[in-house]
Amino acid sequence: MEVERVSTGSDPIDSFLKGGLETGIITNVFGESGSGKTNFCVQVAAHLADQGEKVVYIDTEKGFSPERFKQIASDEALENLVVNEPLDFEEQEEAIESLENIVEENDASAVIVDSMVSLYRLKAKGDQYQEINQRLSQQLSELSKIARKEDIPVLITNQVYTSFDEEGLELVGRDVPRYWSKCLLQLSNEKNGVRKIEIEKHRSMPEGKSAQFKITNSGLDTVDEKGLF
Ligand code: GTP
Ligand code: MG
Repeated sequence: MEVERVSTGSDPIDSFLKGGLETGIITNVFGESGSGKTNFCVQVAAHLADQGEKVVYIDTEKGFSPERFKQIASDEALENLVVNEPLDFEEQEEAIESLENIVEENDASAVIVDSMVSLYRLKAKGDQYQEINQRLSQQLSELSKIARKEDIPVLITNQVYTSFDEEGLELVGRDVPRYWSKCLLQLSNEKNGVRKIEIEKHRSMPEGKSAQFKITNSGLDTVDEKGLF
């Protein structure tokens, strides 16, 4: 079976991902604050909406800016977004429970959740930890089902924290989002505003493969030869 990919509208990202985001699975973009996760989401949403495609956008941290969106897409494209802004983990759960209907009613071409774990992180404390993990897992399972059933890409973002047990950064939610995301992409900052995207998990590409891009007014762009802009 041929793997289908949906263009992100960004040259460096599409060429890195051999065409774009895979349909039928969850792609998880993770990285530190300011690494470009929200810009990645807005890039994808703006590109699809600009082509008349509907996108369901779950924004859990007021990260979505219509102004930023309009720098990348036309003003009218904003009408192709179905935005949901849950305020706590319960509202996020409700948003995901009603998602399949919303995707079908709107014939949406993609689902974006930025971020999957910010409201989870506020909630996952003390003795509730196991139960909250289970609920996060349930939400990701539902997202994964929608991706498969509707044959669309589901893009989520994930914060990280510094782990003391293992070297380097760990995903908030750890094994739960790691398990459900068939594609894991790490974003990080390099020198001179250059960003790096690196594969941590993929069904057909090697771990550790990376590329550079930069964030500009028009979206995620190619780094020129000098690496400066
Ligand atoms: P958190 O949500 O805090 O975890 O961060 P994030 O990973 O979502 O980062 P985000 O996508 O918000 O990236 C922020 C970076 O994008 C900052 O360094 C901004 O300077 C840069 N940025 C945002 N908008 C623009 C723009 O219009 N032009 C340029 N050149 N840079 C921008
Ligand atoms: Mg963000």
